[in-house]
Amino acid sequence: MSENALLTPIKVGPYDLPNRVFMAPMTRSRADNPENAPTGLHAEYYSQRASAGLLITEGSQVSNQAVGYINTPGIHSKAQVEGWKPVTRAVHDKGGHMFIQLWHCGRISHPDFHGGALPVAPSAINPHDRSYTPGGFKDTVTPHALTIDEIHAITKDFKNAALNALAAGFDGVEIHSANGYLFHQFFTSCSNARTDEYGGSHENKARFFFETLEAVGKAIGFGKVGIRLNPSAHGFFGITIDRETIPTFEYIVERLNDYRDLAYAHLIEPMVPVDDVPHAVKEIARHFRPRYKGTLIINCGFDRESGNRVIEQGLADAVSFGKYFIANPDLVERIERGAQLALPDVNTFYTPGAKGYTDYPPLT
Ligand SMILES: Cc1cc2nc3c(=O)[nH]c(=O)nc-3n(C[C@H](O)[C@H](O)[C@H](O)COP(=O)(O)O)c2cc1C
Repeated sequence: MSENALLTPIKVGPYDLPNRVFMAPMTRSRADNPENAPTGLHAEYYSQRASAGLLITEGSQVSNQAVGYINTPGIHSKAQVEGWKPVTRAVHDKGGHMFIQLWHCGRISHPDFHGGALPVAPSAINPHDRSYTPGGFKDTVTPHALTIDEIHAITKDFKNAALNALAAGFDGVEIHSANGYLFHQFFTSCSNARTDEYGGSHENKARFFFETLEAVGKAIGFGKVGIRLNPSAHGFFGITIDRETIPTFEYIVERLNDYRDLAYAHLIEPMVPVDDVPHAVKEIARHFRPRYKGTLIINCGFDRESGNRVIEQGLADAVSFGKYFIANPDLVERIERGAQLALPDVNTFYTPGAKGYTDYPPLT
């Protein structure tokens, strides 16, 4: 029955989840303390949304080097791990499941976050974007091209962050390999001009990602690891598509089949129209579903009707909702009842405090 597809149970990794309405990762910038540690407000926010089949947290930096925005939480220090514990406990107390998104911004950052040192990237190519720093928006700079030893060190940071995540009570992790951040910077020619084993061929551009996936999966079990990709991202965060881009993503998605226990692949439909963008794929789920045998989560622009339909059509196993989950803490119940969905206030997406964060009411 089409109207129930989102509400049917699904197994993800080792977990039996009650529905296919997942919460997409969303930066909310409420870790406005010197440690960038989650607080009681985070526990309230996520536990309000615990009826989601799976909650995926906001991007959380794996190291100080990984930071790109103010007030985002981390998962590398003791204070951050301690800060996350009450969050995962509050979600588990309500029967929810929760993965943390592990994040490295790479060149989408600014020297102000790094004591004046340059942000890092595959190559010394300025994304010509803006970074939201403690001193307001600033232009990005030409980043430092990572050495091979430095690349290996970041893989270790992801592994340590994944171990921290389990210590903090998370059910798993999502490697943020989308939206123009560090892994995506390795995938695309506009940001990766390397001539060593981390640039050039599809295999080389994906090497750092797969090395990290292996390290994280071996540390915590592949069933507790998901990944996120945005193959048709174009024109934001310094990413532009060329004729090599989609073949690189096809290579990556097909190779993910080698990790048979992987929790999921989380794919994003084009965030902005790509009808006029040469080489872009317009329908991501339709293009990539036949290429991936594991659990596929699809995201971007879905509502109750289109979410049910994409599952019915066999194009995805689950749907993640972003903005609707901001404004509808009880999104699952609203989908169940066919109730109207509230719209979020964009002005409070990234502002401190409870306003626009924990004050969206559930249906009475
Ligand atoms: C406020 C906000 C913050 C976001 N932060 C992240 C993030 O930290 N990591 C990420 O992968 N995507 C992030 N996204 C993208 C969302 O996960 C999602 O892809 C996007 O909102 C489209 O889904 P929707 O149409 O259901 O909202 C963010 C989106 C919004 C609106």
